[in-house]
Amino acid sequence: MKNILVTGGAGFIGSNFIIYMLKNYEDIRLVNLDALTYAGNLENLKEIEGDGRYSFIQADICDGETIGEILKEHEIDTVINFAAESHVDRSISDPEIFIKSNVLGVSTLLGAAKRLWEKEGGGFKEGVKFLQVSTDEVYGSLGPEGFFTETTPLDPHSPYSASKASADLLVKAYYDTFKMPVNITRCSNNYGPFQFPEKLIPLMINNCLSLKSLPVYGDGMQVRDWLYVEDHCRAIDLVARRGVPGEVYNIGGHNERPNVFIVETIIDYLHEKVDSAIDRSLIKHVEDRKGHDRRYGIDPEKIKNELGWEPTTAFEDGIVLTMDWYLQNRDWTEKVTSGEYQKYYEEHYGK
Ligand code: NAD
Ligand code: TYD
Repeated sequence: MKNILVTGGAGFIGSNFIIYMLKNYEDIRLVNLDALTYAGNLENLKEIEGDGRYSFIQADICDGETIGEILKEHEIDTVINFAAESHVDRSISDPEIFIKSNVLGVSTLLGAAKRLWEKEGGGFKEGVKFLQVSTDEVYGSLGPEGFFTETTPLDPHSPYSASKASADLLVKAYYDTFKMPVNITRCSNNYGPFQFPEKLIPLMINNCLSLKSLPVYGDGMQVRDWLYVEDHCRAIDLVARRGVPGEVYNIGGHNERPNVFIVETIIDYLHEKVDSAIDRSLIKHVEDRKGHDRRYGIDPEKIKNELGWEPTTAFEDGIVLTMDWYLQNRDWTEKVTSGEYQKYYEEHYGK
């Protein structure tokens, strides 16, 4: 794995992944291809933008001709696809763009990679890999007991998770039909630096800092399984290098927490550290999300047993690292939330 195309590398997880890889490997070349939607910010990559092993190309994963040229020109042997529309609430108000980027985009990438990597007379070049970064949300919702394993049937409920499940099926089809070396990773909710402040944790941190109300959907007892983003990046790297072709790997660290617990943790920390006016009276229970999944919980035994992955950041540490990062990078938040996002936020939550 030497010439890696990272798609969606200007987003939250993709940018963390690029930084992680450049820190941990000397002998790689990383091409970051990103359309720079509202969620993509080159600000995230400032610390590595002058690195000779890294280059950026602004392009859309639906543009097959451009993708084909880039794969060829950079002699790409590994495609790691992070590019996607990723916010469930947006998928409820505007599903179409999710189908375009998350399904057609993946189909386009798969086709371009196959054309470059397939050998004349059949089979694929040595050492190539297509890794689709998917999500636990494709499995749907759990009751109070049990966990998602790789064989849990797909049962997505939101347009977002349905689009990700559709992409997973296309990736599976490229293995089943052509034996293209692919992997799918399905991770639980991530948190950490550079997460766009529309998602639960950074939204709550930022609203606390400006003493805005904290919109908790419904009773706030929905459960998510939180993983620090660097642990996810390490898992993706492992799967890209050592994952068995055709296999799916779940990624999670058994950090299940109800949403209100997350919100209260953020309030209590910022109350002590920043401003005593930040308190639980800011919590505002609002109308529940439509089709809201009640609980996610990952069984990570396969990636632990087969690839030796272990999460290293406990939730209690990761959440403090994350809150401190947002405190120290308020200018980042201001930059990424101006423009289109501000309009969206005001439409949904008021000024
Ligand atoms: P994000 O929204 O922060 O970033 C997505 C990136 O993709 C942005 O930089 C955006 O500009 C780019 N992009 C979107 N459409 C594109 C297109 N058509 N062509 C090229 N680039 C495009 O998302 P994220 O949270 O970093 O998630 C990355 C991936 O990980 C997604 O595929 C998501 O489904 C998956 N995932 C996310 C989580 C999570 O908790 N955030 C958990 C599991 C899996
Ligand atoms: P989110 O960060 O959007 O991730 P996902 O929907 O992909 O799990 O939301 C995490 C949880 O927090 C989810 O149960 C919805 C809830 N939530 C709120 O209660 N209020 C909010 O303002 C947001 C953005 C999310």
